Amino acid sequence: MTDIRFDGRVAIVTGAGNGLGKTYALELARRRARVVVNDLGGSGSGTGASAMAAELVVQEIRDAGGEAIANADSVATREGGNAIVQAALDTWGKVDVLISNAGFLRNNRFEDLTDQEIDPIIDVHLKAAFYVGQPAYRAMRAKGYGRILFTGSASAMFGHAWQANYAAGKGAMLGLSNVVAIEGSAYGITSNVILPTASSRLEAEMTPGFMEIPEFAKAFQNADFSLAQERIGPEFNTPLALYLVSEACTATHGVYSCNSGRYARVRICAAEGWVSPKGSVPPTLEQIASNFEQICTLGEYTEPMTPYDEFTSAVKAARKQGVYP
Ligand code: NAI
Repeated sequence: MTDIRFDGRVAIVTGAGNGLGKTYALELARRRARVVVNDLGGSGSGTGASAMAAELVVQEIRDAGGEAIANADSVATREGGNAIVQAALDTWGKVDVLISNAGFLRNNRFEDLTDQEIDPIIDVHLKAAFYVGQPAYRAMRAKGYGRILFTGSASAMFGHAWQANYAAGKGAMLGLSNVVAIEGSAYGITSNVILPTASSRLEAEMTPGFMEIPEFAKAFQNADFSLAQERIGPEFNTPLALYLVSEACTATHGVYSCNSGRYARVRICAAEGWVSPKGSVPPTLEQIASNFEQICTLGEYTEPMTPYDEFTSAVKAARKQGVYP
């Protein structure tokens, strides 16, 4: 397999001052992409701002001989999104890659979530995907090439207590990316979603309040974190993220999970189901009830009900594949 490189490519990574985004930016630059390192530089709950977060990463890239510029605009506003993309266009004249990654958490019970906990979360996850994504897509379309990676979350795909706001914002990435992938197929643009798992400063925002939900607390307590002990660093997500935005990867319209070194496609799938009797008469509720098992039967897929179940299925896969005893 030849090296996957990004020579001549211009990449934007949002939220690249810390955690996952930082590893994406460093590795893109190491593989010769020219990188816009965007970060507002606020806290893990989205308060405050500092240009330093992006500047430090740019310095690290330049010290290693790479090319990067810093940008401290917020992804959560229309003006910010335009300015981030314009920075790439002003400096290098195009955008080939967008990794939409910036974000933060504000956890609370569903019934207690305030507008200050809902609106900024929707803005930084869902609306930012439009604010940065639209001008980036236009630039890609003009050149007939693009790679877009949106950041979703297992919290949305599988459900996580105390994160209804976050899951709503992250879950929306699925629909958004599916449509961008379909429309982008006419212009050489791919679009996918990554569901990362990493130890980062976001953990500090994971208020343990969710443990008050008995079934969910059980999932957490029963989770098999044995692979995660040594494979929970952000760097474990970087290879998949970068492959998905490389020229070598033409896969589009997908959702991919990284969990403790297990990389897996995640999809919404329809079961074969049950077909109601021939004719124009709709089935009764009772017919639905008596065929409900067949309606629900999916076959061989695993279906995590929480992000913690996913740890367990990753370990199972590792054992089945002989990677871990
Ligand atoms: P992090 O807190 O280390 O990094 C996120 C970065 O985004 C920070 O540097 C922050 O300053 C920046 N940011 C926040 N609001 C911004 C805004 N308005 N404009 C520009 N930059 C902004 O967190 P981490 O863990 O690296 O998360 C990266 C992405 O991955 C987030 O979207 C997060 O929701 C998502 N994610 C992370 C998971 C994990 O296990 N760490 C799991 C699932 C999703």
